[in-house]
Amino acid sequence: MHHERIAILDYGSQYTRLITRRLRELGAFGLVYPSNATAQEIRGEDLRGVILSGGPNSVLEAGAPDLDAAIFELGVPVLGICYGQQLMARDFGGELHRSSQREYGKATIRCQGQDSILFAGMAGEQVVWMSHGDHVEKAPEGYIVTASTPTVPVAAMENQALRRYGIQFHPEVTHSVNGSALLLNFLEHCGMRLDWNAGHFIEEKVVQIRTQVGSGRVVLGLSGGVDSSVAALLLHRAIGKQLTCVFVDHGLMRKDEMKQVQAYFSPFDLSVVWVDASQEFLGKLEGVTDPETKRKIIGSTFIDVFDREAKKIAADFLGQGTTYPDVIESSGIGGAVLVKSHHNVGGLPERMKLKLVEPLRELFKDEVRKTGLALGLPEDMNQRHPFPGPGLAVRLPGAITRERVHILQEADAIFLDELKISGWYGKTSQAFAVLLPVQTVGIMGDERTFEFMCALRAVTSEDFMTADWARLPHELLDRIAQRIVREVKGINRVVFDITSKPPATIEYE
Ligand code: XMP
Repeated sequence: MHHERIAILDYGSQYTRLITRRLRELGAFGLVYPSNATAQEIRGEDLRGVILSGGPNSVLEAGAPDLDAAIFELGVPVLGICYGQQLMARDFGGELHRSSQREYGKATIRCQGQDSILFAGMAGEQVVWMSHGDHVEKAPEGYIVTASTPTVPVAAMENQALRRYGIQFHPEVTHSVNGSALLLNFLEHCGMRLDWNAGHFIEEKVVQIRTQVGSGRVVLGLSGGVDSSVAALLLHRAIGKQLTCVFVDHGLMRKDEMKQVQAYFSPFDLSVVWVDASQEFLGKLEGVTDPETKRKIIGSTFIDVFDREAKKIAADFLGQGTTYPDVIESSGIGGAVLVKSHHNVGGLPERMKLKLVEPLRELFKDEVRKTGLALGLPEDMNQRHPFPGPGLAVRLPGAITRERVHILQEADAIFLDELKISGWYGKTSQAFAVLLPVQTVGIMGDERTFEFMCALRAVTSEDFMTADWARLPHELLDRIAQRIVREVKGINRVVFDITSKPPATIEYE
């Protein structure tokens, strides 16, 4: 590898991956190591600095994760964050204040930027994100205190001669307003070349994938969503024809979905098996109205169909577009509660007994998109709203029939079309039509009608854990409603959903 590296020792903080993300944003490559990694393991010509992460333990406990002291002799600057700072204070003769309670939230530190490396260019007060039990009460000899709060006397400390730095707060969390500036100061102090970009990420992953897969065969479920599409292109770049993608049409796709995905991928020389399994899915769903039962049926049928196709390919590996937020959600970090069973997280790997290749595992959504662009994924494909695995099933409360799917597809296509024309598609995070199982009376021409009601849902969201309804202009809503009622047979009334999440969820089931 030609690029330079910061080694990050992971002491178990939920924010460790955020450190790598912030470094990448600043153009620096960070590699996470377990906390028991030795100096020997992380040394190298490309090493420019070391960051010790935060962690849930107390450094004063017996058996708490430790640090190989030889790391301080590697000749590169070391930055300890929270637990990392406390380790440094403990080992170099500082004093620690032990606390049984964890304090977390925003805090205001008073820093002095004048003689500081980390706070260079900053002065006075700034808001930071704290999350700690113990804190450093007195800095070790030879260290200057560069920031404090009324309750945390050593919020930051530096020993510039030895190039060792400690901070009690988390610069990687966006609530720390100068967090990125502080990390940039550290990187510059390390003499890091800030040239890391999506191209480097791709190069590096290509090498890793080739090493992992060897001459094996990989099968990947291509849904047409951003994550699986980017994973497919990245794997394809690495192993070419050893990758086969399987696209399963469960009959609950958006209008012309399969055709669109085919068009997007036609410029690439990808091997894709296109499976029309709509008969099988819709047959099993007949008469089912319970949301969780629908999800379970779709999930297990998907696995059946996919497994059948994978066996024909005789795959050794299962490729997946798992991203970092998926990893957090399925591990329950952050106390995620299971509200709905997501069919495309888990399930497949257990059943198929294939080894996993997940090249996007450490990336956040916007980084996946950047990687997609660098791999040549068309811009509009790259900017697509997420579409749930169970597809329109979760937007069709009540019984699912081919006819109702068709009505919904038509209404949804009009909605998306108008959003794109008006420029609102890019300003919303997710937008779709829902077909309610309610028939109401209307009048068209001289005739009484008794037809279905369509709900429009458009939301803005950072992470899809919470969402607000999008304030679409009345004139746009008017145009959409008129078109739907006029053009879609089976709908005579349109409503707009103005509920945020929580208390509602984004999807209807
Ligand atoms: P909810 O409805 O839980 O949705 O507010 C949050 C986000 O997750 C998507 N979603 C799914 N995605 N498989 C998926 O891949 C699923 O089973 C599934 N259910 C919901 C939803 O579209 C929204 O973006």
